[in-house]
Amino acid sequence: MSGFPLGRPARIAVFASGRGSNLEALLEAFPPENPLGHIVLVVSDKADAGALEKAVRAGVEAVHIPWPKGGRQLFEQAALQLLAERHVDLVLLAGFMRLLSPAFVEPWMGRILNIHPSLLPNFPGLHAQKQALEARVQESGCTVHFVDTGMDTGPIILQRRVPVFPDDTEETLSARILAEEHQAYPEAVRRVLMGQK
Ligand code: GAR
Repeated sequence: MSGFPLGRPARIAVFASGRGSNLEALLEAFPPENPLGHIVLVVSDKADAGALEKAVRAGVEAVHIPWPKGGRQLFEQAALQLLAERHVDLVLLAGFMRLLSPAFVEPWMGRILNIHPSLLPNFPGLHAQKQALEARVQESGCTVHFVDTGMDTGPIILQRRVPVFPDDTEETLSARILAEEHQAYPEAVRRVLMGQK
C-alpha cells in the first residue's frame, strides 16, 4: 500500500546522476506552492552532476552521496538515512544510472518511481535508444514505472510514444524521447500522488 493521497503536500526526493533535465521538469511541475507535493531533496552519486547545480539554483537541498567502487551499501545506508531525516514520502529516479539493491528498494516499494527511455519491457538497461535503433523498431518512447527489485521492471504507470525514423541517430531519437519524458514524469507523479495508481 502506497498510502497516497496523503491529505497534505508530499515531500519528494529526486535521485539523478547527470544533467538533470527531467529534474528540471519536475521542479517546474512541483514547486513549493503545489498542494500535491514539492521537491525537498536532490541526491546524486556524482559530485559534478548538472542535477545538483539545478537543485541549488532552485533553492532545493542538493546532496552528493559518493558511490565508491563496490560501495553500494555505503551509498544506500546514507541515502536511506537522509530520506528518513528529511521525512521524504516519494522518491523519483530521474536519470539515476545505478541499480539499487532490494535492501534499499523494498522499504520504498510503491513509493519509488523511475523513468526509462524506451517502451518497457522492451530495451531495459543502458543505451535504450541505441538498442531501439539496432532493433529497427518503428516506434519507441518512454516509460514511468514503480521500481521493484529488478532492472527496469516494476508496474508501469504510463508510457508516451514517439516514431522512429529511418535516418534517426541515437542523438535525434534521444532528443525526441526526452521531450516526451518531460511531460510523462510530472503526469505520472500527479497520478500517483492523487492515488490514481
Ligand atoms: C533520460 O533519458 C532518462 O530516461 C535516462 O537518462 C536520461 C537522463 O536525462 N535514464 C535511464 O536511462 C535509466 N536507465 P536527464 O539527466 O536530462 O534527466
